[in-house]
Amino acid sequence: MRHGGAGGCAMTPRKVTVVGAGNVGGSIAQRLAERQGYDIVLVDIVDGLPQGKALDLAQAGAVRGEDSRIIGAGCYDETAGSDAVVITSGMARKPGMSRSALLATNIGIVQSVVRDASARSPAAILVIVANPLDAMTYVAWRVSGFPRRRVVGMAGILDSARFRLFIARELNVPVSEVQAMVLGGHGDAMVPLIRHTTVGGRPVNECLSPERLEALITRTRNGGAEIVNFLKTGSAYYAPAASVVQMVEAMLRDEGAVLPCAALCDGEYGLTDISMGVPVRLGKHGVEEILEFDLTPDERAAFNLSAQGVRDLCREVDKLLGA
Ligand code: NAI
Ligand code: 2OP
Repeated sequence: MRHGGAGGCAMTPRKVTVVGAGNVGGSIAQRLAERQGYDIVLVDIVDGLPQGKALDLAQAGAVRGEDSRIIGAGCYDETAGSDAVVITSGMARKPGMSRSALLATNIGIVQSVVRDASARSPAAILVIVANPLDAMTYVAWRVSGFPRRRVVGMAGILDSARFRLFIARELNVPVSEVQAMVLGGHGDAMVPLIRHTTVGGRPVNECLSPERLEALITRTRNGGAEIVNFLKTGSAYYAPAASVVQMVEAMLRDEGAVLPCAALCDGEYGLTDISMGVPVRLGKHGVEEILEFDLTPDERAAFNLSAQGVRDLCREVDKLLGA
């Protein structure tokens, strides 16, 4: 017991490997290091990148008065026995690219990373970030052979946060007053659940005109591309990293939080053998439960449309991996 936790009580550090020491991976490592209570291993294929970032983060810990528990590595031996493995390794999109255009490149990267990491940490929970997110989560499940509940993808928390922020700014209220959940695939057909969107407890459609609400939904659907267009050389990373850390904490601290995440469905919402954004309860086993919300006919139609796009990508994955 070498650490005080966030609340000051001593607890055994949990081991988290972050594969990909780029923008998202580096930001996740920083957030986890600042939360404390984690042994972090940062891995990248680029020699020196994870070692350099880990050392820099350790020195940041010294400034903050905290002993660092972070190392960088170019191979997987140091990752053995991880409780969670976060996979951010993969190409990010450039302006004009869709997330699904990354499939051909990222499938090979995610496949090899999952093989290497899961062999050394057979009890870990895999948290997938690389795009196209739903398909890469499916790849990780197929390649690892892990139970469904120990493979989960990050997207819904990010998409919901974007929607909440846009509503809060439109109405000039604190974002903490806005509750929302965005389900479906992490793409242009994502599904904001309007009936579950509230501002200070009031239904959002009592606070905004249909036209303004539609505009904010469209902005949310384009939320990733909006940032890519600003950055030009890459995609968002601060909010994605914050979203991943929320998931890791919910699982490794067994919080039981209900969050929108990409999960391997087994009949829920009429979906089988695809991974897609649904409300899940996250706890120490990973995805403890997929919650089935009642959807209106319109929501159901939007959800099914989004599922069709994800299903096509997952069947493409089956072809590439060999079904
Ligand atoms: P980045 O380019 O900054 O970092 C990617 C890192 O992966 C690089 O350092 C690269 O060297 C490393 N890498 C590549 N192949 C590797 C391998 N075989 N083994 C180990 N490391 C390897 O990209 P960024 O911005 O960090 O994004 C990473 C991925 O996450 C992209 O696919 C991006 O589209 C996705 N993403 C997904 C989000 C989501 O909501 N699910 C949000 C933000 C990004
Ligand atoms: C995003 O939505 C790149 O998928 C990532 O920002």
